[in-house]
Amino acid sequence: MLTTTLGRTGLKVSRIGLGLAAIGRPGYINIGHAGDLARDYTVEVMETRAHTLLDAAWAAGVRYFDAARSYGRAEEFLAHWLSARGIDPAEIVVGSKWGYVYTADWRTDAEKHEVKDHSQANLLRQVAESRGLLGDQLDLYQIHSATLESGVLEDPAVLGELARLKNDGLHIGLSLSGPRQAEALRRAMEIRIETGRLFDVVQATWNLLEPSAGPALAEAHSLGLGVIVKEAMANGRLSPRNDDPDFAGRRKTLAAEADRLGTTLDSLALAAALARPWADVVLSGAAAGDHLHSNLAAISVAWDAQADGRLDVIAESPADYWGFRSRLPWN
Ligand SMILES: NC(=O)c1ccc[n+]([C@@H]2O[C@H](COP(=O)([O-])OP(=O)(O)OC[C@H]3O[C@@H](n4cnc5c(N)ncnc54)[C@H](OP(=O)(O)O)[C@@H]3O)[C@@H](O)[C@H]2O)c1
Repeated sequence: MLTTTLGRTGLKVSRIGLGLAAIGRPGYINIGHAGDLARDYTVEVMETRAHTLLDAAWAAGVRYFDAARSYGRAEEFLAHWLSARGIDPAEIVVGSKWGYVYTADWRTDAEKHEVKDHSQANLLRQVAESRGLLGDQLDLYQIHSATLESGVLEDPAVLGELARLKNDGLHIGLSLSGPRQAEALRRAMEIRIETGRLFDVVQATWNLLEPSAGPALAEAHSLGLGVIVKEAMANGRLSPRNDDPDFAGRRKTLAAEADRLGTTLDSLALAAALARPWADVVLSGAAAGDHLHSNLAAISVAWDAQADGRLDVIAESPADYWGFRSRLPWN
């Protein structure tokens, strides 16, 4: 596994990381998620499944793991795995997020699976919960889905608290979401404290269907921020399981490039993100071992300019992309 340093944090990370959004709770929006979990949601079975995936990722050299308070029991599963395997905090980088509260009560049919709360009170509550579970294994703490609309980037009480957490040794980041990721990132990069920029790391959606945040992410990287790519598979739309007839033409274009580069559709999608000079880490969101294995093969795909040229055409407008994503059913 290739490694790099996450921006100017000094944190050594693998170029492919594992995201736990799909394995810490019964419900999620990824296509075919319910099938991955075989609709068996007992906590013991889900934790064992998570540990098996974490073991496979670790064995393959993955050294960045991404959780969040709203991913159900993801932090708890990760914490149990870290202590059960006796993993030295210096050998791994763990990131988590605050700002969404898990409200699904372990159900897949909940009316609301998570509620956004970017208040100072919620930050104080959730950082105590994350630290209570992960302790000194927690390296990076990110605002979950910071948007201009949420107002969190203009909240002095929250920004002050994040500055205190940074002084206390945590690396501070933000994840983005929605069609205005670039604008929110540019606003975030302006926020300074005595020691320099507040934010060390940004996590953003970038993939072959939604590449619009690319230029802003390149700017962030050039300014020393670490860059983590999420949703490189477009929640499964860029995976072999997307048999949507409306997508058939684009799937054919993708399959032709995958054949030319000697790889699979999922690995092609991740390789596209890995080929961005400003991407430090690209997250796999696999919930199944064979999918993780296939995703990890992306590290050896020889991406080239021809692939960029041939696949530019499949991109959607940010409005269409995020509109489609907002209609993906929790399953
Ligand atoms: N706002 C935020 O901060 C935010 C939002 C979204 C995600 N994230 C982070 O990014 C991570 C990844 O994102 P994501 O999981 O949402 O989306 P993603 O990586 O774009 O999509 C993953 C989906 O692709 C499927 N897949 C992967 N390889 C496959 C294969 N070979 N064949 C068939 N299906 C395949 C997975 O299926 P299986 O599940 O069956 O493996 C899963 O459904 C998350 O875990 C989380 O850490 C952060």
